[in-house]
Amino acid sequence: MPQRHGPDILHTVNHWMDIWERPSRLFGPRTTTALDARRVSEAAGAALGLGSGSVILDYGCGPALGVSPWLDAGVEVLLYDRSPHFQEQVRQGPGCRSGVSVLGDDELALLGEGVLDAVVVCSVLQYLTDEERTALLSGSLRWLKKDGVLALVDVVPSDYSLPSDLLATLRSDLLSDRLLRAPGNALALAGSVVRRSRSGLSLRRYGDDELVQLLTDAGFDAEVQPRNFKPNPSRRTWLARPSLSSPQ
Ligand SMILES: C[S@@+](CC[C@H](N)C(=O)[O-])C[C@H]1O[C@@H](n2cnc3c(N)ncnc32)[C@H](O)[C@@H]1O
Repeated sequence: MPQRHGPDILHTVNHWMDIWERPSRLFGPRTTTALDARRVSEAAGAALGLGSGSVILDYGCGPALGVSPWLDAGVEVLLYDRSPHFQEQVRQGPGCRSGVSVLGDDELALLGEGVLDAVVVCSVLQYLTDEERTALLSGSLRWLKKDGVLALVDVVPSDYSLPSDLLATLRSDLLSDRLLRAPGNALALAGSVVRRSRSGLSLRRYGDDELVQLLTDAGFDAEVQPRNFKPNPSRRTWLARPSLSSPQ
């Protein structure tokens, strides 16, 4: 549940992590609905060929509402979120069950080389600083098997349209168990966009050429998918595989 905060929070938000550590309707971008999270997992499972024995890292997992399709397919799931709020939430939530391991920062730092079949990063890239993005890409290259895949889901493109984005969120709410709260959520989200922009926080957008260049420089071959894995058509999903020449 989002926590309530007094007006003091208006003066203390300087970085996206300030928000993710204390999620609030005043500032909150939203995590993925359970229905959409399930769709992302199903699309990722199919596109990445995940099956029994595969190991996947959900990086920036938030509440991790979509692990069931992976577990049903026999996939081992590692969950990591930098926010202690979400680390605690998933440790205590229904997603934390057999086949799921919740990693803290220390466990992530100890993750070995070439151990993962996939890293899924859904609705996260837009909140990362350049340093955090570099750490994610270099970590992923190290953690992935040679034939592993990094899936960057729900990437905000340079031609992103805020009204289409808000409509997609409203639609997702209407289709999910958030139905009754959908209109209030849409208003809260619109207000939070204004407040965040006053605090100098905006979503980091990625032009196609820029993202391909960043991924190539990080040692990946990247291709955009025909459809975003999350049902928001104004955003994109990219798959990045370690390039054959990358030093692994
Ligand atoms: C919009 S939510 C998405 C959560 C989840 N992937 C989903 O689709 O519901 C963004 C998530 O990214 C996490 N995050 C932000 N910066 C991060 C970082 N540097 N490393 C790991 N997680 C981060 C936040 O804590 C938050 O849970």
